[in-house]
Amino acid sequence: MSESVNFWGVVPAAGVGKRMQSDRPKQYLLLGDQTVIEQTLFQLLEANCFAGIAVAISSEDPYWPTLPCSQQEKIIRAEGGRERADSVLSALNALVGKASDNDWVLVHDAARPCIKVADIHRLINTLKSDPVGGILALPSHDTLKNVMQGQIVDSVDRNRVWRALTPQMFRYGVLKKVLQLAAEKGQVVTDEASAFELNGLQPKIVEGQPGNIKITRPEDLILAKFYMEQE
Ligand code: C5P
Repeated sequence: MSESVNFWGVVPAAGVGKRMQSDRPKQYLLLGDQTVIEQTLFQLLEANCFAGIAVAISSEDPYWPTLPCSQQEKIIRAEGGRERADSVLSALNALVGKASDNDWVLVHDAARPCIKVADIHRLINTLKSDPVGGILALPSHDTLKNVMQGQIVDSVDRNRVWRALTPQMFRYGVLKKVLQLAAEKGQVVTDEASAFELNGLQPKIVEGQPGNIKITRPEDLILAKFYMEQE
């Protein structure tokens, strides 16, 4: 008899968001009548496929406990880390004893509130039989340049370049292992897929939507509102 596999959410939400130039981390800025993180978690919960969602929150964060979603039964609080990868690893550790190595984990940035439920389901349906896992991504339409000290070194073949989005979906056991290895070796990984690539594994690409932006700069809030109104 095959063991049943659960799906878990992991949401790194411990960034300070320096580029927003605001009085609070970007995940607590308002998008309509909800904060960015509330909208993100609402979408993940709405997908109705997670056994639980571990959210990495900074220990000095006064905003999180004031949000009703912090009390939601599926939400598990974890300690934030110095870098995004540290926060993800901490959230994975908060699932010890709950998640099995074979379970799937979908890591999704708190700062991407426009994720669509349909995209989450498409990612899961495309990858649930895959040996490695994969990520939502978008082909690059711009020509890209390698630049050093303000000067172009060469161009990158844009037919081979995709922008990595989240969620990124991997098996719990292997994901924890490759992130731990990267941390031990001091390797910088800005997304989960990179930690797999460093070990010679090749995650799959599932095409996402341009609306799944990461709130980074003040103008992104206006764009995010626009994309949400398109729903
Ligand atoms: O800084 P960046 O926009 O790349 O952050 C992506 C996501 O990672 C955000 O949701 C942010 O809150 C989270 N993060 C984190 N811990 C850090 C840095 C970023 O959870 N130390």
